[in-house]
Amino acid sequence: MGVQDKIKQLQMLREKSRLGGGPERIDAQHAKGKLTARERIEALLDPGSFREIDAFVVHRCTDFGLEAKRFLGDSVITGWGTIEQRTVYVFSQDFTVLGGSLGEVHAEKICKVMELATKNGAPLIGLNDSGGARIQEGVVSLGAYADIFLRNTLASGVVPQISAIMGPCAGGAVYSPALTDFVIMVRKTSHMFITGPDVVKAVTRQEVSFDELGGADVHASKSGVCHLVAADGQEALQMIRRLVGFLPSNNMEDPPLVDTGDDANRMDERLNSIVPDDPSKPYDIGEVIHLVVDNGEFFEIQEAYAPNIVIGFARLGGRTVGIVANQPMVLAGVLDIKASIKGARFVRFCDAFNIPLVTFEDVPGFMPGLDQEHGGIITHGAKLLFAYCEATVPKLTVITRKAYGGAYCVMSSKHIRGDYNVAWPTGEIAVMGADGAVNIIFRSEIQKAEDPAARRAELIKAYSEKFANPYVAAARGYLDDVIEPKETRPRLIEALRTLQTKRDQNPPAKHNTMPL
Ligand code: HXC
Repeated sequence: MGVQDKIKQLQMLREKSRLGGGPERIDAQHAKGKLTARERIEALLDPGSFREIDAFVVHRCTDFGLEAKRFLGDSVITGWGTIEQRTVYVFSQDFTVLGGSLGEVHAEKICKVMELATKNGAPLIGLNDSGGARIQEGVVSLGAYADIFLRNTLASGVVPQISAIMGPCAGGAVYSPALTDFVIMVRKTSHMFITGPDVVKAVTRQEVSFDELGGADVHASKSGVCHLVAADGQEALQMIRRLVGFLPSNNMEDPPLVDTGDDANRMDERLNSIVPDDPSKPYDIGEVIHLVVDNGEFFEIQEAYAPNIVIGFARLGGRTVGIVANQPMVLAGVLDIKASIKGARFVRFCDAFNIPLVTFEDVPGFMPGLDQEHGGIITHGAKLLFAYCEATVPKLTVITRKAYGGAYCVMSSKHIRGDYNVAWPTGEIAVMGADGAVNIIFRSEIQKAEDPAARRAELIKAYSEKFANPYVAAARGYLDDVIEPKETRPRLIEALRTLQTKRDQNPPAKHNTMPL
């Protein structure tokens, strides 16, 4: 064969590899409303930036007739490219080849990009669409999954790992996404479960649909497994691009500094009237976040799960911050089991990746009740406390209203290494609300009074005057300042600037023993 023929052969092989399972299966993929693995990569990365590797890899299995079903590249496409000119590593499972099933070489390809991502310090993005372990390869497929799980774990906290679920993801296969930092699911076309509806029916006699069992909305609101829900594949990929924009490439870097064009000294008068006069009335903490951050742009994570706490990324003066905020609109912003777990995971992610934490606090305490106590609110609440305590990134806290009881300590208080803690004049920092406090400490006095109701009201007023303000805490230096709400943005940006050079560390340990 002459040189020109060899080049032609290469071109032909490349083209064959590009077609995956062939035109019919590509049509079938489209008919299901799904993009192909290659189309997904094109939509995810900057145009023309994808560099594929391992396009000539084929499986080595000769059982069950598989030797006749060899496809160049096997059932996953791997390589690197850029998002806003920053390198990311990608794998995209190709459902058109043997249902995207994962066997020995499919896993080897994934492990290769995982190792490149970890060594070179760039995010790893996995686009999942697979029938699971390649049944014909038997135990080899199981070992292959375990090889991936190990690398997910070793990459954790080193590079951001993002998983999009864009088709089926069942059985042990769910554990690779579960080990990563963010899981994005596509409504209707993606499902995650340990065992499917048939097995559920056989074992528990419950009849459930795919969506009820493991659809995007269920995992976004009930289980918390899914962090972001997209209406379709395109939206999921755009979400990943946006998310990556907030993150550093690895744990040794700071997040990218972006010129957002928003004035650091901008003050919004609306903030001064957001907290209602009546302390039992709710207001939307989302609005506070919106008015404070650059261009009002807030990328919320786990929006539908435990909405009594709000988490997500934004920028202040162009710098990425992780925002944690109690939401007075939902359960008065109380901390319950789910909110604690949600908050803790996010705080740890931010700390691992040098993202400063900004906490907006309006919390009446931990949720009382049998369900919560028996569900382990003590252990789960401790997670959030632990996460804030161990975090060494810059920690900024704004108490907008209530900071009661243990929740005061937990929510990035001065005592657990808060760097800049301020309150609005509406701040109330106390062991508990005036009503509850008076009932406990003045019970006998109220009972003995001539007019118990009047005496009670008097005592509540006196307690409120003494404690329902930020000045007792400020007098002790537990707050660095009391500020007008409208000053929040410039104050936070200035503090962040001074904290750019912050250095802090925890005592050496193999690893801590966080209460899981
Ligand atoms: C080998 C597979 C496969 C698999 C699908 N295919 N899953 N081949 N191993 N796991 C093949 C099909 O045989 C078919 O090939 C082609 O892919 C397309 O599949 P269809 O069934 O036609 O597609 P669809 O109707 O869309 O259904 C998709 C599906 C279904 C729901 C994913 O294929 C399915 O139930 N697959 C099996 C899922 C499963 O039980 N996997 C093992 C899970 S346990 P042909 O050539 O006939 O068109 C697991 C353990 C992991 O993964 C453990 C890790 C520790």
